[in-house]
Amino acid sequence: MKEKILKLLLKKEGYLSGEEISNELGVTRTAIWKNIQKLKTMGYVIDSVTNRGYKLVSQPDLIGKMSVRQYLETNEIGNEILFFDEVGSTNVMVKKMAEEGANHGLVFISERQTAGRGRRGREWISPRGNCYFSILLRPDLLAEKASMLTLVSALAVAKAIRNLTGLEAQIKWPNDIVLNGKKICGILTESSTDLEFVNYIVVGIGVNVNQKEFTEDLDEKATSLWLELSDEINRGKLIATILQEFEYYYIKFIQNLNLSFLKDEYNSLLVNVGREVKMIEKNKERICKAIGIDEDGSLLVENEKGIREAIISGEVSVRGLYSYV
Ligand code: BTN
Repeated sequence: MKEKILKLLLKKEGYLSGEEISNELGVTRTAIWKNIQKLKTMGYVIDSVTNRGYKLVSQPDLIGKMSVRQYLETNEIGNEILFFDEVGSTNVMVKKMAEEGANHGLVFISERQTAGRGRRGREWISPRGNCYFSILLRPDLLAEKASMLTLVSALAVAKAIRNLTGLEAQIKWPNDIVLNGKKICGILTESSTDLEFVNYIVVGIGVNVNQKEFTEDLDEKATSLWLELSDEINRGKLIATILQEFEYYYIKFIQNLNLSFLKDEYNSLLVNVGREVKMIEKNKERICKAIGIDEDGSLLVENEKGIREAIISGEVSVRGLYSYV
């Protein structure tokens, strides 16, 4: 009920009368008043004026279940949302729940992580104020196609950040999101396979949102939405927007089973296009020119001899010549 009232208040610019809410939800005005009181104790500032009704003035900076749900209009992703204040890693939690039979579309959010995991076994430092969440997927998919979902997720996050903030988020192949050359989001996709099929996939997304400073070693290559905008971002709305974009591209991916449908859009946001990149493969480095992705999600590059090669994600790491991108 609280959730439904919030959704109505959010849609209304001015005051919404108790009668309108009561007609819309089919509950008594006393029940509405009680739920408004509960929302107030949770940190929502709601103005109530006799004869006019209620107006949502501000929301607490929390990413509880409700703060995401009130903005969410998906059909499968986020059907179940779990929220924790602190866990080791949301990916680890979701993998455990997947083994115990959790459903496709589950989203697990945590305010902070004590053992956040990055790609290549690295740590993902996860203080309060940012977004950390993992999505459980159970597609009918060949195991060899699972890595494509990494690129699907990257496009969804970049689009969500662009739509919500107007910032020109770009993608560093295969799935880092960058703003002004610095990393703003990392995605860790982990899958469990059975013979040649996918059992389940966990897409873990970490976005630097309201973080105001980074340690010296990260300062050069990491940024946050707050640092780029000088403004707080509603994290519930951000997660909902990402889930919405994710569902849109995910459904298309499952229909196509390759990335031809998003190749052009992905390449238009790819920060590496046309640039010389350093390719690091088992301690060996070489310089190539990046062209864009193909329909499998491999990065097409032109090598030293001008010959085209397709680089498969996970095997090579790509860096800019002088900086992170
Ligand atoms: C990277 O190295 O770029 C990937 C970072 C992925 C971090 C996210 S935060 C939510 C989810 N849980 C984890 O432990 N990791 C991912």
